[in-house]
This record gives sequence, C-alpha cells and structure tokens, in this order.
Amino acid sequence: MAVRYGYNGAQIALHWLIALAVLVNYLTGEGMEEALKHPEAGGGLHVWLGLTILGLAVIRILLRLVRGGPEQEPGPRGKAASALHGLLYLLMVAVPLGGSIAWFGGVEFVGGVHALAGNILILLAGVHALIGLAHHYLLKDDVLRRMMRPE
Ligand code: HEM
Ligand code: HEM
Repeated sequence: MAVRYGYNGAQIALHWLIALAVLVNYLTGEGMEEALKHPEAGGGLHVWLGLTILGLAVIRILLRLVRGGPEQEPGPRGKAASALHGLLYLLMVAVPLGGSIAWFGGVEFVGGVHALAGNILILLAGVHALIGLAHHYLLKDDVLRRMMRPE
C-alpha cells in the first residue's frame, strides 16, 4: 500500500460524506425497532441512507487499499490511531450489514446487536473527532488539515 502525506479529493469527500450520513443514520435509528414489526410500511431514510453508507464504505476501503494514505507515527500513539481507524472501518461496514440482516431477513435478535454496534460506532467516532480537533487546536499539527486539503 502506498504511503503518502495525505488523502486525495475522493478520499476526503468520502470521509466527510460518510461522517455526515452516519450521524443522520444514528439520529434516524429511533423508531426502527417499531418499524421492524411493520416492515410493509417501509424503513424510509434509515434503510436507504444506511445502504448508501455500506456502498460508500466499501468503495472507500478499496480506494484506501489501492491509493494508500498517510502512515502513522511509530510507537504506541500511532498504533492506537491505526487500531481506532481499523475499528471505525470495521463498524462502518458491519453496522449497516447487521441492519440489513435484521431488516431484510426479519431477524430481531440481530436488530438488537445492530443497535448496540451503531451506538458504539457513534461513541468511537465522537472520540475520533475530538482527537482530530485536539490535533488542530492543542497540538497545532497538520493532521486535521490533511483531511481537508487534497494532496
Ligand atoms: C451506518 C449505518 C447505520 C447506523 C449508524 C445505524 C444506527 C442505528 C441505531 C443507533 C439504531 C438503534 C436506535 C434506537 O433503538 O434508538 C438502529 C436501529 C435499526 N436499524 Fe440501523 N443503522 C445503520 C444502518 C442500517 C441499515 C442499512 C439498516 C437496514 C437495511 C438498518 C436497520 C435498522 C433496524 C431494523 C433497526 C431496529 C433494530 C432493533 O432495535 O431491533 N440500519 N440503527
Ligand atoms: C466531525 C467528525 C470527524 C472529524 C473531525 C474527523 C477527522 C479525521 C481526521 C483529521 C483524519 C485523518 C487522520 C490521519 O490522517 O491520521 C480522519 C481519518 C479517518 N476518519 Fe475521521 N473524522 C470525523 C468523523 C469520522 C467518522 C464519523 C468516521 C467513521 C464513520 C471516521 C472515520 C475515519 C477513518 C476510518 C479514518 C482513517 C483514514 C485512513 O485510512 O487513513 N471519521 N478523520
């Protein structure tokens, strides 16, 4: 995988698009437990935006593998960053996949796991966002900027 300084325009667009869509889906999850009992009424935005996230996340991961991106610094901080990013990638695929199994397969148990995993995703993304802001305002380095300006 190529090691680069930053991300290209497509990678940056996908990062912020997915971030926004994940937030919307977190907010529209409420009521889905009820909707699951009456699937004939449709799942609305939560289902369709969620499926879009799944598609965008797959494209994003393939792009990361093909095009590459910045390497983390050596040592525990870099390892922690890689682990958190890996978890976010895993959840941005697993959460909509679980939701799909619950919705299209009508498996209620998976719905509960999906709701829990969705909450964990938002929690980790919040921690990740705070770390990004801390890089910018406290450490005053280029980490947040490289997710803004294509390279
Ligand atoms: C990244 C995308 C997604 C996120 C962040 C997300 C998040 C959530 C959250 C937080 C809940 C629980 C809401 C609550 O109980 O207050 C929920 C419920 C649900 N979601 Fe999603 N969701 C996503 C994608 C999907 C997709 C793609 C589908 C279906 C194709 C789906 C189907 C459902 C269903 C059926 C429930 C009700 C589960 C239950 O409580 O039994 N979700 N979602
Ligand atoms: C406002 C919220 C967010 C901010 C401020 C933010 C900030 C950033 C920044 C600055 C980077 C670059 C890190 C680096 O190059 O080392 C990054 C990478 C990343 N972000 Fe976010 N992010 C946010 C939301 C999200 C959300 C919601 C997700 C997941 C759904 C996410 C997933 C990722 C992943 C997986 C990477 C690693 C990219 C790579 O492969 O190098 N981010 N984020």
